[in-house]
Amino acid sequence: MSFIVAIDGPAGSGKGTVTKEVAKKLNLVNIDTGAMYRCVTLDCLNNNVEPTEIDKINNILDKINIELKIENGNQIIFLNGEDVSEEIRSSKIDNAVAKYAAVKEIRDKITPIQREMGKNDEIIMEGRDIGTVVFPDADVKIFLDCSLEERARRRYKQNIEKGINISYEEVLESIKERHRLETQRTIAPFVKAEDAIVVDSTNMTIEEVVFSIINIINEKRKNIL
Ligand code: DC
Repeated sequence: MSFIVAIDGPAGSGKGTVTKEVAKKLNLVNIDTGAMYRCVTLDCLNNNVEPTEIDKINNILDKINIELKIENGNQIIFLNGEDVSEEIRSSKIDNAVAKYAAVKEIRDKITPIQREMGKNDEIIMEGRDIGTVVFPDADVKIFLDCSLEERARRRYKQNIEKGINISYEEVLESIKERHRLETQRTIAPFVKAEDAIVVDSTNMTIEEVVFSIINIINEKRKNIL
């Protein structure tokens, strides 16, 4: 039997960290769908293919092989057999991915793969369109919200820790632009599913968000069993 938890939320909402933690605590298979769009973007950039070159994109999609594996509790992402877990988190990909994720042909390829992954397992899947498009009938739907300013502040802090020197204003602008592209695209725009439960992480610690989401899932599970 499958049990599906859908978590949608913007970049910087803490979604990745929180989902990983909840998956570990509740023994759910964690699927990071953003990583899949990042892989397609990397493959396109490596082959100098623009988001407008649909024939070339189709060529890439025909050959692409994306694998998500868990090793020692960490998610490893393979693109065409190569470990790209770090490369897909670079700012080059950060800045390009929203444009590729808006391409219909790319979403038409990725969405069925995600549905297949949820077939026989108890999973927690995170992304932008999981509760609306990929699994509109998910058992639990969570919309993890966070203010733009707080998301920019978190990203700015992460950058400083990594030695990346970009001003807070620039980070805020790039987060705003990505948000605009993701929410205004025609296919599978990033919106809250009507029946999703909102958790606003703006003033919460990671532990508080994890606690709150575990409570929501346990409550739903009790009603299903
Ligand atoms: O969550 P993330 O930052 O790794 O996502 C990378 C990009 O992929 C981001 O621009 C949104 C897009 N995305 C999407 O369109 N649909 C998903 N289900 C997941 C991510």
